[in-house]
Amino acid sequence: MAYDIRIAGTEQHFSCEPGQNILDAGLKAGIEMPYSCRKGVCGNCAGGIASGAAQCPPNDVAGPGQVLYCQCVPEGDLEIVPTAWHRIDPAARKQFSAKVYRNTLAADDVSVLQLRLPAGQRAKFKAGQYLQVTLPDGSRRSYSMANPPHESDTLQLHIRHVAGGQFTRIVPTLKQGDLLQVELPFGNFELKEESSSPMLCVVGGTGFAPVKSLLDDLVKKGVKRPVTLIWGGRDRNGLYLMAAVDRWKKLLPGFDFVPAVEDAADAQALGGFHGRVDDALRTRFESLAGYEVYCCGAPPMVAAVKKACVDERGLDPKHFFSDVFVPGPAA
Ligand code: FES
Repeated sequence: MAYDIRIAGTEQHFSCEPGQNILDAGLKAGIEMPYSCRKGVCGNCAGGIASGAAQCPPNDVAGPGQVLYCQCVPEGDLEIVPTAWHRIDPAARKQFSAKVYRNTLAADDVSVLQLRLPAGQRAKFKAGQYLQVTLPDGSRRSYSMANPPHESDTLQLHIRHVAGGQFTRIVPTLKQGDLLQVELPFGNFELKEESSSPMLCVVGGTGFAPVKSLLDDLVKKGVKRPVTLIWGGRDRNGLYLMAAVDRWKKLLPGFDFVPAVEDAADAQALGGFHGRVDDALRTRFESLAGYEVYCCGAPPMVAAVKKACVDERGLDPKHFFSDVFVPGPAA
């Protein structure tokens, strides 16, 4: 028998099948709450339970009195207190047979894959969202769209090669005309369009992809918000798409770029910061009060950036938006 999950203080409720977690049940019913990894790593889905019992494994990323909705399985009816929620249309998500038309090795360990949708078909998504690729064995991998939404007949993916990764083995062999099954859109990492606050984007490696979509979208819409991008990598090869950065320098008024690389010689050659992205932002910003921060990358990097922004530079935690990349099968 399904359980009833009610959002405290509202008339909104949805049903949850036995064994299903709270986040998945909400998404299936068209109620989206904050999330990113869906694997219990990022902490974005943390929220409260006002009444009722649920099985929630221990974690060290939710705040006091909070649980992770992507991990919590109700044991009966629940009243929950999410930090935010809104209605979505689950039917807006679509599957496509997308054709490879370009596959470029942008760095030693990064492929840029350009896909085309079948003639006459368009993908509808918001800048910053992601898709899922279905592999031959039926498992799925998640990748952010790097192209902006108005380029809706194409999908650009930045794929970091993961040692032993199943898709990593396939990617270098993909050639023009090969088909991939994709489904989109997913995720709620997206530009807050109603805001005019200055933006700080902090990305590591292929965390660049969703932010590229955001910034290309700003260019297309003629939005004039001050934007600083800090892009981190081991060396200059890790900053694998500088042509996009050069374009924003020309087309985005108030755009500032800080490369942050661990290789000292490359940092000097780039005129950038030698070290980690969180230290780069500490050096660059005395205060982030009034800013919005968009951060994408591996879990430790995102956690370090959040700590620097919120605990040390006065950023309102509600204005920290993150997309956490966790390798492996999509949840
Ligand atoms: S911890 Fe639940 S979405 Fe990341």
